[in-house]
Amino acid sequence: MVKVTHISMDHPLYEQEKALRTSVLLEPIGYSFQDYLDMAPGREEVSEHFVAIVDHPSGTRVVGTATLYISEDEHGERVGKVQQVCVDPQRQGEGIGQKLMIAMEARGFGDLGLTQLYCHAQLSALGFYERLGWSCEDQTFLEAGIEHKRMFIAAPKPAES
Ligand SMILES: CC(C)(COP(=O)(O)OP(=O)(O)OC[C@H]1O[C@@H](n2cnc3c(N)ncnc32)[C@H](O)[C@@H]1OP(=O)(O)O)[C@@H](O)C(=O)NCCC(=O)NCCS
Repeated sequence: MVKVTHISMDHPLYEQEKALRTSVLLEPIGYSFQDYLDMAPGREEVSEHFVAIVDHPSGTRVVGTATLYISEDEHGERVGKVQQVCVDPQRQGEGIGQKLMIAMEARGFGDLGLTQLYCHAQLSALGFYERLGWSCEDQTFLEAGIEHKRMFIAAPKPAES
């Protein structure tokens, strides 16, 4: 069974998190992990780290990752940026990415009380976020040489009593 858990950078699974992010997200665009860190110094340390894990005879394996970075928008509202969402290519299409995103939304909206989450999505992944109810802005921009769009989702409205 796949479980999503929140880890710190000194957790033993952090090395696997970095390895998966490197092979699925960074190497394909010609980046090393250090190049990623250098793009936004200090962000890795203040982001929250989520991993999707499975039990394996050789020990726990990380099969998916996502990070959550909290900052303030231009109105002083705290918003969360979802980053580094990826799933082991051998396990894609099994609902693991969706599980990670549900965990991010539960953390952002449920625990942290944020009003909005956003991400910069590669065009090839827009449909993945849209399936989860995220909306897409019109403008396309380049990030790390790849076309992206800003996507966002607002906190669910509280149920009326
Ligand atoms: C994008 C990614 C995270 C999705 O994870 P996943 O575990 O394969 O996705 P899931 O199995 O949870 O898919 C959930 C739903 O989204 C759909 N979906 C998944 N990837 C999609 C994509 N790239 N485009 C459109 N729809 C997609 C699935 O078909 C599924 O739909 P369903 O509910 O109708 O069956 C994964 O494919 C991946 O790591 N891709 C490479 C890295 C990447 O592009 N990351 C995003 C950077 S912005």
